[in-house]
Amino acid sequence: MKRPFAELSGTGSYAPPRVMTNDEFSKILDTSDQWIRERTGIRERRISTKEETNACMGKAAALQVLEQNGLTPLDLDAIVYATASPDRLLPSQACDLQAILGAKNAAALDVGAACSGFVYALSVAEGIVAAQQAERVLVVAAEKLTSIMDWSDRTTAVLFGDGAGATLVRPCTGTRGILSSYLKSDGTLAELLYRRGGGASHPPSEELLKDHSYYIKMAGREVFKAAVLSMADACDQALRRAGLTADDIDLLIPHQANIRIIEATAKHAGVPMEKVYVNVDRFGNTSAASIAIALDEAVKTGRLTAGMTVMFCAFGAGFTWASMVVRW
Ligand SMILES: CC(C)(COP(=O)(O)OP(=O)(O)OC[C@H]1O[C@@H](n2cnc3c(N)ncnc32)[C@H](O)[C@@H]1OP(=O)(O)O)[C@@H](O)C(=O)NCCC(=O)NCCS
Repeated sequence: MKRPFAELSGTGSYAPPRVMTNDEFSKILDTSDQWIRERTGIRERRISTKEETNACMGKAAALQVLEQNGLTPLDLDAIVYATASPDRLLPSQACDLQAILGAKNAAALDVGAACSGFVYALSVAEGIVAAQQAERVLVVAAEKLTSIMDWSDRTTAVLFGDGAGATLVRPCTGTRGILSSYLKSDGTLAELLYRRGGGASHPPSEELLKDHSYYIKMAGREVFKAAVLSMADACDQALRRAGLTADDIDLLIPHQANIRIIEATAKHAGVPMEKVYVNVDRFGNTSAASIAIALDEAVKTGRLTAGMTVMFCAFGAGFTWASMVVRW
């Protein structure tokens, strides 16, 4: 087994206080609590207010990580920010966080890998640390998806939620740390899950507004199948690269998109559901933030403790998929 270059130190998260139940959706869309629960496992999700910007949520999660590490923002060498719903397209979300934190000594960059964003960002941070470019890399994953989803489309609106999570990646001090990681993509399938409008090739226009092209569009059934296959591949690869088997995994934290995808992934990986962290029922799909929020909850509730081996696996728009095994 390789000696890890980098470890994760401290976790934080932020969930907007506003809870929206499935029953509330059934008042504005042709849907029901029963349909949403049975097809997705989601019972409720968090909805941010206008004041709860992506950067504010990211900052709240980041401050917990800094406090746990006894650091101030000035101690940070880099900020890597995973998001698919930045407050604005230019500059990066990481630069906005750098400014509001006052992290004057930090480089700042975004990672665009949609729901795989947190695992991608951890891997980028690991690389920066391994290359001895930085010693304290703040990794933040935050989403304000409810501002880019189509509230009139029942096939997507009921799935998403808002929130943020964070951790610090730093050089290894012992045997704990990142044991393996695996990143993959297939951009030929991009249009199964995408936002057409708003970028440089489809700049703002009346037509884009009218046909709801600023919002997330998804071919749910195709995405579902791809997610199951890709997350299975991700688990296999991360285990193989770490030289471990499913029996060595104490906790699996998969991307929280749909309980049926989570169950299929766990079954393929050979990890029993008792060892799988699930919070999709309470948060819905928070894209890049989902594993980061679940990780923080797992640590704070004692599900993940020092010495355990945890595996992350994710899948998202792109398509992208990714996994990581970490000795905690
Ligand atoms: C979106 C998803 C929950 C839909 O579940 P599904 O079992 O595949 O359902 P289908 O898309 O086949 O739709 C079945 C029916 O339910 C309807 N339906 C869709 N959303 C509905 C809703 N919110 N409420 C009620 N009915 C709904 C569809 O219109 C369809 O009706 P029809 O048969 O009359 O055409 C599921 O495909 C999924 O989870 N996909 C992956 C989503 C995801 O994780 N995306 C992010 C990846 S990171």
